[in-house]
Amino acid sequence: MRTVASSPEIRIDSYLSAGEERSLAYDVLDGLTRPFKEIPPKHFYDARGSELFERICELPEYYPTRTEREILSARAQDIVRCSGAGELVELGSGSAEKARILLGAMSAAGTLRRYVPLDVSESALEAAALELVDEFDELTVHGVIGDFERHLDRVPRGPADGASRIVALLGGTIGNFPPGTRRRMLRQIGALLGPEDRLLLGTDLVKNPAVLEAAYDDSQGVTAEFNRNVLHVINRELEADFAPEAFEHIAFYDREHEWVEMRLRARRPCTVWVAALGLRVQFAAGEELRTEISAKFTRARVEDDFRAAGLRLECWYTDSDQLFALSLARRL
Ligand SMILES: C[S@@+](CC[C@H](N)C(=O)[O-])C[C@H]1O[C@@H](n2cnc3c(N)ncnc32)[C@H](O)[C@@H]1O
Repeated sequence: MRTVASSPEIRIDSYLSAGEERSLAYDVLDGLTRPFKEIPPKHFYDARGSELFERICELPEYYPTRTEREILSARAQDIVRCSGAGELVELGSGSAEKARILLGAMSAAGTLRRYVPLDVSESALEAAALELVDEFDELTVHGVIGDFERHLDRVPRGPADGASRIVALLGGTIGNFPPGTRRRMLRQIGALLGPEDRLLLGTDLVKNPAVLEAAYDDSQGVTAEFNRNVLHVINRELEADFAPEAFEHIAFYDREHEWVEMRLRARRPCTVWVAALGLRVQFAAGEELRTEISAKFTRARVEDDFRAAGLRLECWYTDSDQLFALSLARRL
């Protein structure tokens, strides 16, 4: 563990060591030597990837962020009243734009104490912590730079006086896991909850495929740049020689699995050398590398997942167009 920042208001601990950042080497070795190539989406998010994601959130086609924000703005008071929470733990916190809404409601209710963001992106987490302690006088931040697949046990315990907390996983991030892994993740997240704590989960909903596909393939090409960013990350961190422009951005809705997939398709045959791994990888023309799945949900699917993970749905909040949902859940 490395302490990145320590002041009366902000403490940030990092569990990512410089050399093996986010287990990229393992995922590249494993993912690029499979018959169907795949890299997990967490590797999009270096500083540039986090910035590109923020731009995606502002795109007209990308409805999830603004819709989730609207639902939160309308329901934050209810959520805080119902939970009585004074602490917010946020997994994959990014810019903490949505956390700000919940922290504001806690502050108005007089319960606000601490924010515990966990993210792989050090730059995004540090910037968010500084802004938030400026905005809320009573707030302390204990940030964890880490991977929520590996470092949930590093999330600090809840408030010593037994006050309750909300553990949030927003932005539809849970949809990035295939169904079995998703339930395992929910069970592990559930283990962070005390009897009075709540999980707040954001899920994108099943809808018209044209709307979904446009959200992942915007007309300005920002999502395409975000998708190709993973190749820049691999080039920089593992001394590889991908030519990112030789890969085309693909996004489509898989109706059978009810998820959106993002892929990178080689425009021509290419050979890539990953020097740090001593690995040579061949791509045939048209061969695809899967970089993300983003599962879409119904209320029944969320309830089934919760039950399988030892949780129960307490409140279901959605927008008038049923585009996105926020669920509040507790331990069974
Ligand atoms: C889709 S963004 C969502 C950001 C924000 N919570 C929101 O709702 O807008 C995903 C965030 O999760 C982080 N992230 C992705 N995979 C992660 C992982 N395995 N562990 C920790 N953070 C991760 C990314 O750095 C990014 O900030």
